[in-house]
Amino acid sequence: MKNVKKFIETQIEEIRKTVGSGKAISALSGGVDSSACTVLAHRALGPQLKSVFIDHGLMRAGEPREIAKIFAGLGITVDIVDKKKEYFAALKGKADPEDKRKAFRYAFYSSFGKEVLKSKARFLIQGTIAADIIETKKGLKTQHNILEQIGIDPEEGFGFKVIEPLKELFKHEVRLVSKELGLPESIYNRMPFPGPALATRIIGEVTSERVDLVRAATVIVEEEVAAHKPFQAFAVLLEDKGTGVVGGQRRFGHIVIVRSVESKDAMTAEPSPLPWATLLKISKRITAELPSVTRVAYELTGKPPATIEYI
Ligand code: XMP
Repeated sequence: MKNVKKFIETQIEEIRKTVGSGKAISALSGGVDSSACTVLAHRALGPQLKSVFIDHGLMRAGEPREIAKIFAGLGITVDIVDKKKEYFAALKGKADPEDKRKAFRYAFYSSFGKEVLKSKARFLIQGTIAADIIETKKGLKTQHNILEQIGIDPEEGFGFKVIEPLKELFKHEVRLVSKELGLPESIYNRMPFPGPALATRIIGEVTSERVDLVRAATVIVEEEVAAHKPFQAFAVLLEDKGTGVVGGQRRFGHIVIVRSVESKDAMTAEPSPLPWATLLKISKRITAELPSVTRVAYELTGKPPATIEYI
């Protein structure tokens, strides 16, 4: 992308041409990619666009309302659609990472399929970026928002065509586009957050209790690392347990991993050199505020060989 303004103009034109006089739905998750995409689509289509935020119950604390508020401030109404039951049902009993990713992708497209049908739209606009496509094509992972590129026709399976205005950009370029589009800094500098959300940070089955635990630990990690501005930082819940002593009693409790990485494009990453005092504070807060956790560990692996997320 040589010129941000030109890129925006071209994409707006392209979206208008593709959608014509029909209707489209924008899949908004509040991340930098889907936010930029929603603003582009809104500029292109105005009232022909419906922006939908699927509340799958796997977002970070307070996220659905916060995102709807930010977009209301930009004059874009966001419909929050509650699909928690469908997503938890799709993930039930699944422990294998790829099975979980595929279950999430299926729930993602089938819930948007229903929204598209309900609104008589023919297009789903989504914020897929270059890294998503590269990693899925290489077979590195099942990305929640990739279908066509791996030979699945969304029109046949789910009843809509997909438009991906950002598919040639990398994250740092999407941030430039987002800034130019007038999105607030809380969005254009937002940490990347994966489509399958907190499901990528839970080893073993995704249940609402386990999501609640990882969500609460994530709040603590994000608060404590904020001053250091890592590329990405979060908490992970393992399936293993470890013995602890709480109030003089032995307790076989949860183990939480703290992951913080530095990266430019998420294709490679290194652990953040966080100060020891910050790490200790995170550990003390997690065990004090979440008593079912008896152990907290800091992850020291780069990408490769590890991935950033845990599934
Ligand atoms: P990994 O874990 O593969 O992650 O090293 C690289 C970057 O991609 C994000 N990520 C995803 N983003 N859908 C997304 O939109 C996904 O399925 C997905 N999986 C990982 C991850 O947060 C990191 O920034």
